[in-house]
Amino acid sequence: MIDKNILEAHYAEYASQPQEWVANMEQTKRSIVAHVLDEATGYTQRWLPSSQRRNVLVLGASDKRYLSIHHRIFNAELGNASVTTYDIDAEHLGRGPTVIEHDVTRPFPRKEYDLVFSHELMKFLTPEEQVLAIGNAHDTLVRGGLAMHIIHEPSIKGTAELREWQYRVDPSELERRLLWDGIPAIRLEFESESSVDWLRHTVALVTPR
Ligand SMILES: C[S@@+](CC[C@H](N)C(=O)[O-])C[C@H]1O[C@@H](n2cnc3c(N)ncnc32)[C@H](O)[C@@H]1O
Repeated sequence: MIDKNILEAHYAEYASQPQEWVANMEQTKRSIVAHVLDEATGYTQRWLPSSQRRNVLVLGASDKRYLSIHHRIFNAELGNASVTTYDIDAEHLGRGPTVIEHDVTRPFPRKEYDLVFSHELMKFLTPEEQVLAIGNAHDTLVRGGLAMHIIHEPSIKGTAELREWQYRVDPSELERRLLWDGIPAIRLEFESESSVDWLRHTVALVTPR
């Protein structure tokens, strides 16, 4: 588990990011979700925007401003989405009604989500914890649901943007471990619409249920 003081410093750093950064994160996240839903589902009827409410679970958010961003993105993509966020610390997210304090390496309390989304969460987890978190996310899906775990180059290649307290992520090793656990993962690689270099090249590990 990452030290609390390190996480506090991380939240403070994100809270001090200018609105331009947050606007770029919205564009980045929106382009990623749209791409994965398109590629992973081919927008089958199941995933086309509709008035039928879909339950979405987001795993971790560094900044409170991301809560409304995730809400906007999934309602735009799905038509009607109720978005819940699990985070190991709910304080920095204002402890709102859609935030649940939960460690994603432990089994999830509720099992009823259509879609699970994590963005750069894996670098906060050890390789063992990464497999646990993806497995827990898969278990929480309804039949026909899908989870997407988004990873960028710094955590895959260990570039300068990766902090000394963050972990490397090996998508091939994760795919192998997940298959061993009976969870077939689809790996998608593409460029997001980010104006920040290290957020452009994107790997999505998708586990449909
Ligand atoms: C999701 S990641 C990276 C996020 C990226 N910057 C963003 O917000 O889109 C960072 C968040 O994950 C949370 N986190 C780290 N380890 C966690 C764990 N084991 N369980 C739940 N949340 C965790 C941290 O508290 C932090 O808010």
